[in-house]
Amino acid sequence: MIIDGKKIAESFRAKIAAEVEELNKIYERPPLLAVLMVGHDSASEVYVQRKREACAEVGIETRQYSFPLSIKQVDLLHVIDLLNQDESVDGILVQLPLPCHINVNNVLECIVPQKDVDGLHPYNLGRLAQRHPSFRPCTPQGVMALLESIDYHCQGVHAVVVGCSNIVGQPMALELLSAGATVTVCHSHTRKIQSYIEMADLIVSAVGKPGLIKGAWIKKGAVVIDVGITRLPSGKLVGDVEFLPAAKRAGWITPVPGGVGPMTVAMLLENVLLAAKCRSVCS
Ligand code: GUN
Repeated sequence: MIIDGKKIAESFRAKIAAEVEELNKIYERPPLLAVLMVGHDSASEVYVQRKREACAEVGIETRQYSFPLSIKQVDLLHVIDLLNQDESVDGILVQLPLPCHINVNNVLECIVPQKDVDGLHPYNLGRLAQRHPSFRPCTPQGVMALLESIDYHCQGVHAVVVGCSNIVGQPMALELLSAGATVTVCHSHTRKIQSYIEMADLIVSAVGKPGLIKGAWIKKGAVVIDVGITRLPSGKLVGDVEFLPAAKRAGWITPVPGGVGPMTVAMLLENVLLAAKCRSVCS
């Protein structure tokens, strides 16, 4: 069966829109997200546009800051510092990737944890590791919401996460561990990935390599969550998993597009709403 991320994200957005409206009745301004972009990476531009449209749909305001590729790290950190102190800003998102002359860890660490709606600050990742999360990284949070939507219980299952990026793979493993799964993380140095996939009750692949996971490797009835997204020269968007053969064996599977992508955006909205609620409580 297909997990329809687009539809599930829609129901999240409706719920968030209603909550934003309630919040606006109490406080005199809507939640505000600052989005920072460096350079003109075409995929990043599309993602930022989607995030801003989704914000507008639920009544969250956005302010975009676009910088040339040549911006110095010190200048970017200075802008983040101003946004940290700006009481009209609830959330700060720096779209990744950043050019290599900028240290991504320094940038993420500069955002105050209370405005880190991407959940990528070491404080927020540490809270997740302690099983006491505050802001959770959006994509893994979205995957957990998809699993909840099919009433999937992770306790005792063998979950295999493919890819160990700081944004998706690592926090995904932490989320699944917290939920009681036995977690294996495969990465670029893993030998015989096939042997792990064949044992998995749940597979979350976040690499960005079309056809990496063969359909024939999927255990009958397994749940397959495909976070990978690659645009082929033909213009078609595909995931890491060979969709049709995998779908024949899987119990549940997410499509690309229309699976995890819309959920990442929905969880960002959730996090901005959470930040706005905390601001309201704190001020
Ligand atoms: N680039 C790709 N995914 C993400 C994400 O979840 N957050 C940010 N900030 N940048 C990204």
